[in-house]
Amino acid sequence: MNADPRVMEFLPQILTPAESDAMVARIHRHFDQHGFGLWAVEVLDVAPFIGFAGLSVPSFEAHFTPCVEVGWRLAYEHWGKGYATEAAEAALSVGFVQLQIEQIVSFTVKNNYRSRRVMERIGMTHSADDDFCHPNLPVGHRLRPHVLYRLPLSAFEKASRFPNASTK
Ligand SMILES: CC(C)(COP(=O)(O)OP(=O)(O)OC[C@H]1O[C@@H](n2cnc3c(N)ncnc32)[C@H](O)[C@@H]1OP(=O)(O)O)[C@@H](O)C(=O)NCCC(=O)NCCS
Repeated sequence: MNADPRVMEFLPQILTPAESDAMVARIHRHFDQHGFGLWAVEVLDVAPFIGFAGLSVPSFEAHFTPCVEVGWRLAYEHWGKGYATEAAEAALSVGFVQLQIEQIVSFTVKNNYRSRRVMERIGMTHSADDDFCHPNLPVGHRLRPHVLYRLPLSAFEKASRFPNASTK
């Protein structure tokens, strides 16, 4: 998945096996540090691993940090089936219902419309005032302009399509 240029189109570069393993190690350390992270996504009776989705704390500084982000990455052959949206909704449930997080954000490169559609399907909203340049990318880099989507706990609770959408 991390070596597939179609999957990595909106990320700085495809990863070597060693870089991919290092990313998995970082995911494990994030779980140790925060108690949550990017979970492996399984499609029951179909595929034991199709990618990841979950919650993470970005390590860079921006106008909306510190924060908790919901994110996803799926192997190309599993796109177009609704799995990212379903996994993201499960991650939101953990974040809002179990962890009582007040707001969850998501961000991506401006023209990553597939990812933006997932954000919109899970009820997140975008304001142009929140657009930002990713601080880890150099000025002029094609992936630098980013959009930010937000979902406050109150909006999550109002969205009746979420199962168990109560913190009581
Ligand atoms: C972002 C990404 C996870 C989105 O995947 P996706 O398959 O488009 O998103 P979903 O899993 O929510 O699927 C939605 C699609 O499945 C379709 N679908 C088919 N059956 C469905 C079902 N039963 N339920 C819901 N949607 C279904 C929807 O119509 C929609 O297709 P469309 O967008 O072509 O109209 C994927 O493109 C990806 O991994 N990209 C690379 C990594 C990346 O950019 N990550 C984000 C970085 S910030």
